[in-house]
Amino acid sequence: MAFYCNANHHGVKYKLIINTTLVVVLSLLSSLPRGDAADDNLLGASFIFGDSLVDAGNNNYLSTLSKADSTPNGIDFKASGGKPTGRFTNGRTIGDIVGEELGIPNYATPFLAPNATGKAILYGVNYASGGGGILNATGRIFVNRLGMDVQVDYFNITRKQIDKLLGASSARDYIQKKSIFSITVGSNDFLNNYLLPIISIGARITQNADSFTDDMITHLRNQLTRLYQLDGRKFVVGNVGPIGCIPYQKTINQLNENECVDLADKLARQYNAKLKDLLTQLGENLPGSTFVYANVYDLVLELITNYKKYGFNTASKACCGNGGQYAGIIPCGPSSSLCDDRDKHVFWDPYHPSEAANVLLAKQLLDGDTKYISPMNLRQLRSA
Ligand SMILES: *[C@@H]1O[C@H](CO)[C@@H](O)[C@H](O)[C@H]1NC(C)=O
Ligand SMILES: *[C@@H]1O[C@H](CO)[C@@H](O)[C@H](O)[C@H]1NC(C)=O
Ligand SMILES: *[C@@H]1O[C@H](CO)[C@@H](O)[C@H](O)[C@H]1NC(C)=O
Repeated sequence: MAFYCNANHHGVKYKLIINTTLVVVLSLLSSLPRGDAADDNLLGASFIFGDSLVDAGNNNYLSTLSKADSTPNGIDFKASGGKPTGRFTNGRTIGDIVGEELGIPNYATPFLAPNATGKAILYGVNYASGGGGILNATGRIFVNRLGMDVQVDYFNITRKQIDKLLGASSARDYIQKKSIFSITVGSNDFLNNYLLPIISIGARITQNADSFTDDMITHLRNQLTRLYQLDGRKFVVGNVGPIGCIPYQKTINQLNENECVDLADKLARQYNAKLKDLLTQLGENLPGSTFVYANVYDLVLELITNYKKYGFNTASKACCGNGGQYAGIIPCGPSSSLCDDRDKHVFWDPYHPSEAANVLLAKQLLDGDTKYISPMNLRQLRSA
């Protein structure tokens, strides 16, 4: 309004400014999400929480030992022209692929990136951090990382920014109806906490596996409930994959190609059973919420067991890495050996799936049946 009044006082410029204003207003109407959640112009948001499986670059802004900011990480990531972005894989993460398939523009921007401001956040924000876990102590060996408690604190900041952008009531509607909250976490609580030889031996002596996984569930319940209090309604939570079968574990335990580490997989399965119960309880207790359980464990195990069926040549050897029989000791970096056939490897590096594997995993989460994603798949969750 002030703009128009000013224009009135400047006779000659009046028309020009009105025209410019109209153009600006028209282009705002056609391209900007508006404060009306029923409007199809609001395409929906993807808020991504978790660890290095879905980190899209947050750790680039931390002083941490857990980083994927050097080549050849990202070599197949088209949006960056093959330059590293901080993603711990050669291309897109599962979070990227799912967002693309659901028609959400841009990949959710890393919370710590300077451009995570303005309307970009209306399409989602990524809080995930390599080395992060459910428990605060997880990932201490990396010095810095964002654990889940901190990631939820950060969403609380985003939440207030969305209020400012859309107004309180539209913001609430948008977050409740058009936003998907995905949580991919838990592996580090085992790999970089409970199972670490020296650092957590104390914890393992004082705490058995059952009470450790109970602890994880208690903290996750609190974290998910906080997201619900901040208007999250549509959740998908991944269980922990077969961490005993990754190249790192196979290498350090000197296993045969088709063997996995029992203890690690047993811990994952124990946690996963409790997670499934937790999500059922939360869905029943928090009105209007939907909690989807993503059975990453069975999905990845299927890929590993029947890798040939899916067009892979190996499910034991890392494409990028060094050390031992499966290149599974030293993380991927400029001096690593690099395979030629990246899309024929289930694993990109000692810990993380390749983009080719991520595409297959994402496809099942989007369109699969209840064996892998229940009680509904992500396409159904989106329109629920
Ligand atoms: C923001 O910057 C990051 C790099 O830190 C980039 O990956 C991302 O695509 C940018 N997002 C937007 C919406 O411009
Ligand atoms: C975890 O750390 C965060 C930030 O450092 C803190 O706010 C939170 O209370 C801690 N959680 C627990 C359970 O100690
Ligand atoms: C979000 O932040 C506000 C303070 O700005 C605090 O009062 C509130 O408890 C926080 N909510 C959650 C769920 O952490």
